[in-house]
Amino acid sequence: MGQPTQERTTYPDHLRDLIEGYLESLRFLRGDPGDEQAAGTEGLIEAMRYSLLAGGKRIRPVLALATAESLGRDPQELLPTAAAIELTHTYSLIHDDLPAMDDDELRRGRPTCHVVYGEDTAILAGDALFAEAVRLICDEQGSGPRVQLGMLTELSRAAGVPGMVGGQYLDLQGEGHDSIGALRRVHSLKTGRLIACAVRCALVLAEPDPETWGHYDRFAQKLALLFQIVDDILDVEVTEDELGKMIGADERAGKATYVSLLGIDEARARAEHAHAEVITTLNLIDGPNDALLALADLTLSRRS
Ligand code: IPE
Ligand code: IPE
Ligand code: MG
Ligand code: MG
Ligand code: MG
Repeated sequence: MGQPTQERTTYPDHLRDLIEGYLESLRFLRGDPGDEQAAGTEGLIEAMRYSLLAGGKRIRPVLALATAESLGRDPQELLPTAAAIELTHTYSLIHDDLPAMDDDELRRGRPTCHVVYGEDTAILAGDALFAEAVRLICDEQGSGPRVQLGMLTELSRAAGVPGMVGGQYLDLQGEGHDSIGALRRVHSLKTGRLIACAVRCALVLAEPDPETWGHYDRFAQKLALLFQIVDDILDVEVTEDELGKMIGADERAGKATYVSLLGIDEARARAEHAHAEVITTLNLIDGPNDALLALADLTLSRRS
């Protein structure tokens, strides 16, 4: 992939450290340690933590925290919801890799959840991660019921039929081959909505004026488009070691991608163009945007 034109910032490590520490602290056991109700579920919790703590890039939670920072809020305030988005994303990956879906054996540089724990446990680990995501917002996002409800609304919309699950369904039905417009629709549902949700949850917290809200929202949509174009390119362009997941998987599965529809050169050109659009939208936003800029650049230049 092309490199961003200017040397800007590096990955916002302070935000990644925040979310990483928070995720590591999660044990998915509420109540007293040794709680009767949780007894015997250790294997399930191990599978959840195996996939969650496998070194993902944490783009969605870092994006949520970076947006909060850009809106003048303390990113710590949004940690439970940022984590909830990462749990939801991890659940989607566990299910995406199942034999009934993409049938992949490598994820985040490790054997996939079902390869290690079996399909039955992997399905339940995904289900439980989503339930825990909802619980985190209800129990831990201490911003009052109105804000919590707003975040739950964002997450449930992004995860449901007009979002990730609906997009995954269309993807599995082989939608997106006919035109770039059709492919964009699949992408914006299966990937875009959850990325946009990260930005929108920070907006729910900070409640900016409608014009500012619109700028952030457009930024999120452009970033999500860039993210998925690059995901399609990486599937054919990097090594398995770099990517941490199986390469060439889209072609083997006959998936419609930017590369299959347009060829690699045009796909790269579209990624460069999408990146330029992300920067244009970001320039309309006041506030400390270093972390958001770094995320935009890394979404283009990433190798994994
Ligand atoms: C991969 O997402 C799946 C898609 C939505 C295309 P990421 O590239 O963010 O994966 P991790 O979280 O870093 O493993
Ligand atoms: C997965 O898309 C999107 C979701 C999990 C919602 P892909 O199938 O392209 O993701 P990778 O390439 O396996 O990570
Ligand atoms: Mg898939
Ligand atoms: Mg997949
Ligand atoms: Mg992919």
